[in-house]
Amino acid sequence: MHTLDGEEHCTRKAMFVSLLMDDDRIAALVDCATVAWDAAVPGWVRRGEVVLLDEAAEVLTRAVCDWAGVPLSDGEVPSVARDLTAMVDGFATAGPRHWRARRARGRREAWLARLVEEVRSGAATVPADSVVDVVARHRDADGERLDPRTAAVEVLNVIRPTVAISWFLAFSGHALARWPQHRELLAAGEPADAEAWAHEVRRFYPFAPFIGGRAPREVEWDGERVPEHSMVLLDLYGQNHDAELWGDPYTFRPERFLGREIGAFELVAQGGGDPRTNHRCPGEQVTVAVLSALAVRLARLQVDVPEQDLSISLRRIPAKPASGVVLRVRGTD
Ligand code: HEM
Repeated sequence: MHTLDGEEHCTRKAMFVSLLMDDDRIAALVDCATVAWDAAVPGWVRRGEVVLLDEAAEVLTRAVCDWAGVPLSDGEVPSVARDLTAMVDGFATAGPRHWRARRARGRREAWLARLVEEVRSGAATVPADSVVDVVARHRDADGERLDPRTAAVEVLNVIRPTVAISWFLAFSGHALARWPQHRELLAAGEPADAEAWAHEVRRFYPFAPFIGGRAPREVEWDGERVPEHSMVLLDLYGQNHDAELWGDPYTFRPERFLGREIGAFELVAQGGGDPRTNHRCPGEQVTVAVLSALAVRLARLQVDVPEQDLSISLRRIPAKPASGVVLRVRGTD
């Protein structure tokens, strides 16, 4: 998907847009996410101390698999969550994290390719119109069905980044620990405040610092000549901290998004422009909706934040709080 261009990209992208940019589908995923979160909280209270990044990844794995039509027993959730997290954590690095990610990807592609084959042969049934069902039936620009491995990659392209929202939940935990004055307003659950929180977390925190693309032909942009085939990087972190756009970019201030229309090229945590026609993330509304709902629940947890390393290294891609955000959970409001 990320590497396609032209008509091929358009046809495949249309499938993602229909699956992900639909209000009813988004609302159904938010329901799955809040149900999974509420079911997890009593376990956190029993265990006392938990790592938010890991727990959020399990909640999101449970939720997105239920929503996407991927059959998954409760016992399988931790290992699937670990593999999906390993893939996100190893996406732009060399060394052991990269190799862990490659092994996880191989395992999960084979698992989902088997599921697609079983759905096509009738050996397995998944809910009609679910992500797995749509991808299994999808025909590309050439009229052919996707081979099972490619279909598996596209199912992974939905479930893996949904689990990556756990990073933004860990960043939310970080922000609540550092600036607890925001907790009460967020916990009140006013939709506009929750959405402003989600935007500010995506703007303020470093996750993916930049994205790259190759110029398909020579272009001139803003007086710069970009030769054909050259690699162009979009500095996401720089753009999201541009003082001309954001005023006080290094202050965490969710209110900046209240009553503000966000231009197509302003907040670029998930790419810029029009997601229907270019490579901008089609999961952006999903991300904002799920993050808004779960951040409110996070703010409602009664927690103590034990001594830990909450530093965020800008040398690590993807960046994350070193401890993963350890919380002692006493209960929930
Ligand atoms: C943690 C939250 C997320 C972040 C930070 C993120 C970030 C991004 C970025 C930077 C791109 C590339 C944009 C470009 O090249 O212009 C992208 C593309 C994409 N994202 Fe996301 N994303 C997130 C969540 C999601 C979710 C929840 C889904 C699906 C449910 C998703 C599915 C995709 C797909 C399929 C593409 C490829 C689009 C294309 O090539 O046309 N993402 N994302």
